[in-house]
Amino acid sequence: MNGSLPAPSGETTGPGTLGPPWSAGTERLLDGSVAVAGMDVADLATRFGTPLYVLDEADLRARARAWRIAFERAFAAVGAPVDVYYAGKAFLSVAVARWVHAEGLRVDTATGGELAVALAAGVPGPHLGLHGNNKSDAEIAAALDAGVGRIVADSRVEIDALAAAAAARGVVVPVMVRVTTGVHAGGHEYISTAHEDQKFGLSLAAGPDDEDSPALAAALAVLARPGLRLIGLHSHIGSQILDPSGFVVAARRVLELRAQIARRTGVLLDEVDLGGGYGIAYLPDDVPLDPERVAKDLATAVAEAAAELGTPLPRFSVEPGRAIVGPAGLTLYTVGTVKPVRLDDGRVRTYVAVDGGMSDNIRPALYGAAYHAELVGRSSDATPVLARVVGKHCESGDIVVSEVLLPGDVRAGDLLAVAATGAYGRSMASNYNLVPRPPVVAVRDGAARVLVRRETVADLLALDQG
Ligand code: LLP
Repeated sequence: MNGSLPAPSGETTGPGTLGPPWSAGTERLLDGSVAVAGMDVADLATRFGTPLYVLDEADLRARARAWRIAFERAFAAVGAPVDVYYAGKAFLSVAVARWVHAEGLRVDTATGGELAVALAAGVPGPHLGLHGNNKSDAEIAAALDAGVGRIVADSRVEIDALAAAAAARGVVVPVMVRVTTGVHAGGHEYISTAHEDQKFGLSLAAGPDDEDSPALAAALAVLARPGLRLIGLHSHIGSQILDPSGFVVAARRVLELRAQIARRTGVLLDEVDLGGGYGIAYLPDDVPLDPERVAKDLATAVAEAAAELGTPLPRFSVEPGRAIVGPAGLTLYTVGTVKPVRLDDGRVRTYVAVDGGMSDNIRPALYGAAYHAELVGRSSDATPVLARVVGKHCESGDIVVSEVLLPGDVRAGDLLAVAATGAYGRSMASNYNLVPRPPVVAVRDGAARVLVRRETVADLLALDQG
């Protein structure tokens, strides 16, 4: 999957598989057109319209399988069982939940909406987890009704709410405590989640007078509630992480807390979740995290840490989202206006406006995320120009691809594809400027199927009560 890359020349690429950051099934054909899983993208654009999210089913499933097998093998080698949860926030639909479940993964949900979709797909409750730093009573009730395998508690208030819900129903709720390990990692400040100065989780840092850390105190609080069963500890340090060392440090800290809880209470917790966050390639030269490498590093680190602490290894779990669905997706756009602008340094930047933008991909505007685009409807050997792909929204920050070389004859009606938009594209889409959200179409073996239909202006008007 991490094969070598064609240089991003800006001319359209020659025939053959495009390689990362495109999905494994993306290829340029002899006539210059581009196909995904045997489906010509120009035909997809004609049939389904643009903007269009295209998901390569075989690629997604292969990644789900690769992450599961890599973790199972590496952790089996150190004698620990492991479950791989797909983090549904990256993109969840009924079909995607079914695919990952069929590939042997469980599903991690972060809201009642994600939980409902996973349940609609038939994923069994015990294979589901519920996260969230501010879960509503309704979400907690839905999770208990579904018999989810775990609820990850993010605060002391929530532990009280969970205990109350358990008592009201006369059930015992499996709970994990979300631990803030103090590790600062991630592709952007807004997606780093384990340093102190952010909203998630319970800190490992001791209080001012050496009192118990909030994480330890929370674990003790769960253990003290008869309606709650503390099954383990959870750590997620951030997202789009390309240096795996932070995962290792965080895993050690969580295992230390587990040993501390055992010393204090005699209870050795069954499970440790190491979260997700594995970085992918967005640009042709990016080097994504390799499943086998990450799994091996983590398995070795936890085995060493557990040996030093003198505690047997727990069951582990991990929660990749982006690394499974991100590279499997691309977005197709139709070019509208093209505007060359002379920059202060004398260069020319060509603004290429497409029929979507920040409403279907907020990541460039929100995180300064970089993407790669290519002309896909036709081939061109025109001299490449420095281009900026922008959207149709009423903001100059409405940028889809900040910097990319495109053939100099790019023009209205051309089809552009943006790579690696499968994660946090459709799932973070909005109706800004009352633009209906694009559909998600899955392609496989030369056939296409709508997973999520295109929103219409009628849908938007139906919400408007006048
Ligand atoms: N587990 C937990 C508890 C999480 O909070 C997340 C992501 C994941 C797993 C999955 O992380 P992944 O493997 O997908 O990196 N909207 C941002 C990413 C936010 C991630 C939030 N939590 C973006 O577009 O980059």
